Amino acid sequence: MKILCFGDVVAQSGLDALCKNLHLLKKEFSADAVIVNGENASMGQGNGLSAADAEALLAAGADVITGGNHSFRQKSLYGMLDDRNDLLRPANLHGSCPGKGYTVLPVNGVNLLVVNLIGRVDTDLPASCPFETLDRILKDMEGQYDAAAVDFHAEATSEKLALAHYFDGRVQIFFGTHTHVPTADAQILPKGCGYITDLGMCGPSCSALGLRPDIIARKLITGLPCRFEPAATPPVLQGALFTLSPFLSSCTKVERIEKKL
Ligand SMILES: [Fe+2]
Repeated sequence: MKILCFGDVVAQSGLDALCKNLHLLKKEFSADAVIVNGENASMGQGNGLSAADAEALLAAGADVITGGNHSFRQKSLYGMLDDRNDLLRPANLHGSCPGKGYTVLPVNGVNLLVVNLIGRVDTDLPASCPFETLDRILKDMEGQYDAAAVDFHAEATSEKLALAHYFDGRVQIFFGTHTHVPTADAQILPKGCGYITDLGMCGPSCSALGLRPDIIARKLITGLPCRFEPAATPPVLQGALFTLSPFLSSCTKVERIEKKL
């Protein structure tokens, strides 16, 4: 089984590029399912993900959309977060928040548990412990899934590595999102978990995390309020392809994916 995962979708150009190419990419990599972090896809409409853009990603072939610190920016998404099982927000946020943090995705006769979590190091949301949350989810869902995939939306590489190693052997796919910069550490952990610290992004190339670098520089130099704008550069699609063993007990291969358009 092969699961194709894409990093944070950024801005209209990233969204359009992924939607246009997703079916072809799924075919090119013989992927059985696709997980996309969509939390920045509606940048330009005030950040976050709108209901219309979530619909577009799902219609384009995303099987599960994950979120992060911008999950609740667009109120149009709240109803969809509550109603749909293929649209997640971090599981370790308060239970009264809209939506859910995990789902079971049927893939070719097997059940893939997909969990979305957010880090607590250098993030600004009142999140509970991701270790405790994932422990509880795996226990609650025992017997209801064949393999597990985790999108850990976090800033700190140390937190991502620590969580992945802690759950190595119990989770088969573990990838980080949020930094928009892909890391060169795709690997199989000792007990068979396929891992990469960050998938990168689907958005404007040659930019500051998808944004115009000159505006970010001005903000950093002066501290004056300014409106961030997506860079007008060609989009790049970044992610990773995870291949699971026939019995789904481990990941056998993790390959970084990068498509320049
Ligand atoms: Fe984020």
